[in-house]
Amino acid sequence: MSPASRVALITGASSGIGAAVALLFARHGYSLSLSGRNVQRLAATADLCRREAGRLKQTGSEDIVVMETVGDLAKPECLTALAEATGKQFGGRLDSLINNAGILEYGSIENSSTEQLDRVLNINLRSVYRLTQLCLPLLKSVSPKGSIVNVSSVNGLRSFPGLLAYNVSKAALDQFTRCAALELAPVGIRCNSVNPGVIVTELQKTGGLSDEQYASFIKRCAETHALGRPGQPNEVAEAALFLADPDRSGFITGVTLPVDGGRHAMCPR
Ligand SMILES: NC(=O)c1ccc[n+]([C@@H]2O[C@H](COP(=O)([O-])OP(=O)(O)OC[C@H]3O[C@@H](n4cnc5c(N)ncnc54)[C@H](OP(=O)(O)O)[C@@H]3O)[C@@H](O)[C@H]2O)c1
Repeated sequence: MSPASRVALITGASSGIGAAVALLFARHGYSLSLSGRNVQRLAATADLCRREAGRLKQTGSEDIVVMETVGDLAKPECLTALAEATGKQFGGRLDSLINNAGILEYGSIENSSTEQLDRVLNINLRSVYRLTQLCLPLLKSVSPKGSIVNVSSVNGLRSFPGLLAYNVSKAALDQFTRCAALELAPVGIRCNSVNPGVIVTELQKTGGLSDEQYASFIKRCAETHALGRPGQPNEVAEAALFLADPDRSGFITGVTLPVDGGRHAMCPR
């Protein structure tokens, strides 16, 4: 049976921006299908969301359900399993698909490889493409129709040297967002992106920066971001909630919304 609450599927919910999105959506009464690879960290996010649900219940709100699916989204069978498990748990209902999982790898045209390009595109683009396809029947089943929010990057909108595969993956994701928005508009499904600037998460360290390099990267945000600081995961989560919710953004589709302290508008001088 379909739950009374809205349902969101969030990938990359075990860390950083995805974990913040999960918590904010729980606070707003969404039931959640959470995906990640790290079992403990995914369980930690799910526990926080369940605690939020407990608090909501005390205020008389509907019960929300939080489910976890562990798996590597680079593997096609994990994408299928995630969509199927979500459909089964929530009686075919899905209001929002938040394609957030992503990786960053450093490398330029001179010192990267096609293997790196394949790895980055596989998770940042191909998994989004396929998971979106798999979730369309669920997104079509709700009223108002479901929405898709892709977590892209300022690197999709602007060009930076030294992370070629990542930049290309996010630019392609932005084009995916616009094209899918046009293709799905006739059925009422909206598709938008948020494009964060530097946000304090594990992304760059997992990508290879040492603690020292990361500290100096964050310090440089005073100059690289017009607002003079990096962002926090909850600041991106607020934008994702806005774009996901038909009551807040029902007439918005195909946008790539910078959440980047003005970085996309800057030019060296
Ligand atoms: N932080 C920034 O400065 C920044 C800026 C612009 C855009 N973004 C984008 O924001 C999104 C979230 O990144 P974040 O900053 O929150 O980084 P993060 O803390 O490293 O989180 C990345 C998430 O993606 C998941 N993930 C990565 N590869 C996966 C795979 N093969 N299968 C399943 N899950 C996978 C990770 O799961 P596990 O940890 O469980 O493996 C983790 O939950 C990414 O798309 C990133 O490109 C981040």
